[in-house]
Amino acid sequence: MIQNKRSLNERIHCAFAFASKQLRHLLSAHPDYFPMYTRNGKWKHGGEAWTNWCEGFLGGQLWLMYTYTKEAWWRDQAIHYSRLIEHRKTDKTVHDLGFLFWSTWKRWYDHSPESFINDVIVEAGRTAGSRFRARGQYLPSFVSGESLFIDIMMNVGIIFYAARQSGDMTLWENAARHCHTTRRYLIRGDGSSAHEGLFDRETGEFTRQTTHQGWRGDSSWARGLTWAIYGFGTVFRFTGDSRFLRTAEDCAAFYIERSPAHGVPPNDWSEPDPAHPYESSAAAIAASAFLQLADLTTDAVRGRMYRGYALTILDTLLQSNFLAIDTPNWEGILKRGIYHQDKGLGVNESVMWGEYFFLEALLDALHSLSDKKPSVSARPAC
Ligand code: GLY
Repeated sequence: MIQNKRSLNERIHCAFAFASKQLRHLLSAHPDYFPMYTRNGKWKHGGEAWTNWCEGFLGGQLWLMYTYTKEAWWRDQAIHYSRLIEHRKTDKTVHDLGFLFWSTWKRWYDHSPESFINDVIVEAGRTAGSRFRARGQYLPSFVSGESLFIDIMMNVGIIFYAARQSGDMTLWENAARHCHTTRRYLIRGDGSSAHEGLFDRETGEFTRQTTHQGWRGDSSWARGLTWAIYGFGTVFRFTGDSRFLRTAEDCAAFYIERSPAHGVPPNDWSEPDPAHPYESSAAAIAASAFLQLADLTTDAVRGRMYRGYALTILDTLLQSNFLAIDTPNWEGILKRGIYHQDKGLGVNESVMWGEYFFLEALLDALHSLSDKKPSVSARPAC
């Protein structure tokens, strides 16, 4: 429970000043470079990427810095890093175009509603939607056609957006079908989520739950659950379908029930005695997802609880155990994230999406702690 709102407010401003320093250093030390995770606190290294899903999170942070500071320098950098990924709008090889374009081009459009920007967002959304498989009724992961990831819930918003902008009902219905399939096969009765579901390619029949980044097929990878809380919340914003809101709230209840009181989960709640007990990027995503949920839920008591829980998470992440402010030579903002534990990639390190959702949640929290309504919100408009 946060006792002192003023001091939280001050610490958020202090974290933005620190983020500004870290981002300025990254841009000047490694121009036009898209890092994914640090190695011993350094962004540039030759470590494996596994997949290319992170190129929007740097531009996204620059847009968040612009929203926070209103300084033209941040806007110019944000536009530059957004333009660098424009060619990805036709990339059919990944399931991540929402991560890439919602965090960058959509933020750009929210600041400057010009049609050439919207066209890029719509094209990216249409590309993402073109991956839909009628057999099985889902958007497959980058791994293979038989694979459905919980992560994809973060990438359907841009498809709903593209469908609405272009009046394409089939695109809209396919996005909705994907969400229902995910809800049916990846979300369990206790609100936990599976990372991956596998389907028979020929018949579309669901076969089993499994994982890449979590502990086991029947456990709940923490970041995956936060993708579900955030993603189903966003889909409710687009569709108004209360089943999606219920799913987001069920997943939120599981997160709260299983996490320590400080709100930072391990990589997977089922893993016995993990060597690295924190997954700070999941906590950052959760903070933002809980703040979104606080605005969506129809229950005022639960809304206050979600907001208070998000602030508790941020209060924890602002301490120097997580915020790298007192760690000399550390290039990231938030320490103790985990990318891919099984592969040994980015374990106990800073990760680009953790930085992005941390700044998003901090900005949203600042807005909710202040009486002034911002002209552009912390989260892209649906
Ligand atoms: N592949 C997305 C993630 O690691 O969360």
